[in-house]
Amino acid sequence: MARFTVLIAAVILAFVVAAPVPEVTAKKYTVGDNKFWNPNINYTIWAQGKHFYLGDWLYFVFDRNQHNILEVNKTDYESCISDHPIRNWTRGAGRDVVTLNVTKHYYLLDGKGGCYGGMKLAVKVEKLPPPPKSAPVKNVGSVSMVTGLAQFMIPAALFSVSTMWDAFLMMW
Ligand SMILES: *[C@@H]1O[C@H](CO)[C@@H](O)[C@H](O)[C@H]1NC(C)=O
Ligand SMILES: *[C@@H]1O[C@H](CO)[C@@H](O)[C@H](O)[C@H]1NC(C)=O
Ligand SMILES: *[C@@H]1O[C@H](CO)[C@@H](O)[C@H](O)[C@H]1NC(C)=O
Ligand SMILES: *[C@@H]1O[C@H](CO)[C@@H](O)[C@H](O)[C@H]1NC(C)=O
Repeated sequence: MARFTVLIAAVILAFVVAAPVPEVTAKKYTVGDNKFWNPNINYTIWAQGKHFYLGDWLYFVFDRNQHNILEVNKTDYESCISDHPIRNWTRGAGRDVVTLNVTKHYYLLDGKGGCYGGMKLAVKVEKLPPPPKSAPVKNVGSVSMVTGLAQFMIPAALFSVSTMWDAFLMMW
């Protein structure tokens, strides 16, 4: 019986060790894909069906003499006002990254042309969905179960050894 329990514990332990750790990777989106940050692209349509999660980033490629990237609030976004940006994401090279590290709506627009040609993009950043398996909880459960079995089995094994020893002595 004890041996069987050890076997079960070993199987559980092997399962726990072999369980794949769900991979969480941040995604990089090139805004506008191969058309980049340019006029006459509907970025609302570009963003449709995409899910932006905490840690993802937006990569903007554009002509630095013509455009920039400013983050504004919702009202300013709707009216394309760039006079009081929340943040200037432009660094000067025409290659800029917006790190989506806050769960909120990001309202971005081209401040140089005042949304010229519809150059504005709003994205909603969400928390990462929970991994498909509740792996950490399961692992903790199995490990403590193994530990529990060991705690139970070691005294039991010692007890049976001493019982056998007593029996052996009685035979003398
Ligand atoms: C956005 O900023 C403008 C100018 O600072 C302000 O008048 C407006 O109330 C703000 N809107 C929101 C939703 O915060
Ligand atoms: C944004 O920052 C860049 C780089 O520092 C600067 O050249 C540019 O003038 C700034 N634009 C605005 C609107 O603040
Ligand atoms: C998010 O990223 C920006 C730019 O890298 C940084 O300035 C800001 O402090 C970050 N915010 C948080 C909450 O990590
Ligand atoms: C972009 O497409 C959306 C959804 O079809 C539409 O509501 C919006 O008016 C378009 N924007 C421009 C600037 O054409």
